[in-house]
Amino acid sequence: MSPRTRRLSALALAAVPFAAWAWPVAEPALIRLPFFDECDSIDAIPMRQHVNYNVDIQPIWSARCANCHVEPEGGNAAADLFLDPPNSWFFLYNEPSSQDPELIRVVPNRPWQSLLFTKLNCDVVDIGVRMPRDRQPIPIAEQALVHDWILAGAPETDDDTIFRARFELRG
Ligand code: HEC
Repeated sequence: MSPRTRRLSALALAAVPFAAWAWPVAEPALIRLPFFDECDSIDAIPMRQHVNYNVDIQPIWSARCANCHVEPEGGNAAADLFLDPPNSWFFLYNEPSSQDPELIRVVPNRPWQSLLFTKLNCDVVDIGVRMPRDRQPIPIAEQALVHDWILAGAPETDDDTIFRARFELRG
């Protein structure tokens, strides 16, 4: 190896750690897909393209998840999932399950990868039981609303256009 080539290769080698540091590498998310079975069909419900979290979704939690996740008895939300306004969104969006951190509560754009939706829609769920626990399943129209909200990117507000740009059609 000539001194010139050696100098050049030394330079190239020195650049490697810098390139590794500067190059944005997309870390594969450490998630596993939730298992589910015996799910309700939401096909009959017309699709909603604009779902406003505070107007459409929060009232479902407030009405149907009370005592356990909303104003929880003794202040301890079941599975550390607080669904009280105004912070419930932060306990859902890309948040790992407190029971199995490889499962994600809400995976934006992916209802069937979201533990939340599968636990509202299916009798057989990956972890624990169908929600709301010990109560009737929530109405199909509300299940579809949760589905469509996640599919639209699970925006925190209605005018979250960054997320809505990635919208795909259901089915
Ligand atoms: C009667 C109490 C009760 C009600 C009502 C209830 N839950 Fe739960 N929830 C629990 C318990 C207990 C767990 C932990 C065991 C399990 O996953 O089944 C849980 C777990 C969950 C989880 C998994 C959280 C995690 O991090 O693993 C989600 C999501 C969830 N509930 C959503 C809801 C939603 C949405 C509602 C209302 C539609 C609701 N639950 C109503 C008691 C309840």
